[in-house]
Amino acid sequence: MRSPESDHHILRLAKEVITAPSLISIPGPFLARFTRLWYFNRVLSGNFDKENLDLHKKYGPIVRLSPGHYSISKKADVKTVYGAGSRFTKAAWYDAFKEPSPHNWSVFTDRDNKRHSETRRKFSSLYSMSSLLHYEGFVDASASIFMERLNEFAQKEETIDFHHWLQCYAFDVIGQITFGQRFGFLNKGEDIMGAISTVRQILVFSCLAGIYVEWYPLLYKLMNSLPGSGPRGLLFIINFVVDKVRQLNEKRIQGGENPSETTIPKTQDFMERMAVARDENPAKITDYHLQMMGNSNVIAGSDTTAITLSAIMYYLLRTPHVHCRLRREIDEFTSQNRCSERITFKESQEMPYLQAVIREALRMHTATGLPLWREVPSGGAEINGYFIPQGSAIGINTWVAHYDEEFFPDAKSFIPERWIEGITDAEQLRKMNEMYMPFGLGGRTCLGKHISTLEIYKLIPQLIRDFDFELENQTWTTENLWFVKPMDFRVKVLLRKQE
Ligand code: HEM
Repeated sequence: MRSPESDHHILRLAKEVITAPSLISIPGPFLARFTRLWYFNRVLSGNFDKENLDLHKKYGPIVRLSPGHYSISKKADVKTVYGAGSRFTKAAWYDAFKEPSPHNWSVFTDRDNKRHSETRRKFSSLYSMSSLLHYEGFVDASASIFMERLNEFAQKEETIDFHHWLQCYAFDVIGQITFGQRFGFLNKGEDIMGAISTVRQILVFSCLAGIYVEWYPLLYKLMNSLPGSGPRGLLFIINFVVDKVRQLNEKRIQGGENPSETTIPKTQDFMERMAVARDENPAKITDYHLQMMGNSNVIAGSDTTAITLSAIMYYLLRTPHVHCRLRREIDEFTSQNRCSERITFKESQEMPYLQAVIREALRMHTATGLPLWREVPSGGAEINGYFIPQGSAIGINTWVAHYDEEFFPDAKSFIPERWIEGITDAEQLRKMNEMYMPFGLGGRTCLGKHISTLEIYKLIPQLIRDFDFELENQTWTTENLWFVKPMDFRVKVLLRKQE
């Protein structure tokens, strides 16, 4: 016999089916109605940032990308999915960025909201700007070596793969902040231990395998012994960080450090700070936390920052009047003694045009280029008039948000002025900020935002002040496999011409 509860449930479902437009009516490419292969194939093509935009132009604010994946573009829907109090968790797609065991998780992949908030609470102070300012010396050290390399290139007027060198800078800074030691990429521009290509392997494999996530454990098992595969890359980074934690523990034991006496000024890098926290509170913080946070820093922190640095330089070099205005600002600061040889973070924060340039480049070219997938909670959800069943993946691509003409007029043009108060009115600024999401949304926004901010704000003014660069190609090609990476960002490096 049916209970009144089940009757109620059936009635509710029937009402949903009758009142909401059926799932089949959600617009999208024909093949996407039947198979995930369509979306898989489009991601594999490496241009989904641009294709996602075109899809919304063609089909409207909600687009079916597969029988269980829906891309959204409207502000109201974004609020429903990512806003305060939302029950949407990260979707199963993120499981493909970790080892396939329920015991493995990271702050980036965690789908357990309770554990995730606890983790963020434990470690967010490490990532705060005030804490990060201790690392300014680390950033200076890598920036100095980078400047040396650029000077050498400039003497010979050499053309270089600029993105590669910016990756070397970003990897070395992350190595130093996290483990107290540069990896050494900037010494010769070599991909030391193959780490740069390893991170790429992980991204390619994970962003595709996540679409068929139920097959992920099997795929992982089949591929983890194959050299050059994503699982092999993931294991490499995990083992690398495990080894770093082991070395740190040995050092602490040999050094006879009494955990309670260890003070922050003595222990500067991330791992050391976390080890202090672990020894003070072993019930709550374990070696696993150290390893997991170390992995996250390496995988999430290097490419993203390098891509952003590349985008800032690319748009500056393509837009001479903006480059000229930024250089003028930096020169004025220099002539007023407000700009040190190694520009400090504090000094950079006082340059309004620099801020506008960086903000605009982050809008035009956000490092992540696929929808930030979230899972529809139990009971399903109504999105833009459609009923989306529980368990479906739904999300917005930052590129879709950032190229929305309603929020960013003339969205395809690089216009830093749009972010300057006085040129743009307060109402328009408020509107743009609502759709601005280079570091993600809601409770899952980027944890490393301030690390990259520090790296970017210190390096860009020095590059503009000290060097001239000539683009080899006026337009670049990119590859979007979760991170939207420039493939041919080549520039000739020149010493700055005296004007
Ligand atoms: C300009 C550089 C960066 C950009 C554009 C960027 C962008 C993002 C975005 C869009 C997300 C949200 C992903 C999602 O919802 O699926 C995210 C999350 C995250 N990022 Fe970044 N990121 C950058 C730099 C960094 C750095 C330097 C680190 C660490 C050293 C880092 C660590 C993380 C972590 C751990 C998360 C997951 C946070 C969570 O789920 O609670 N990121 N980032």
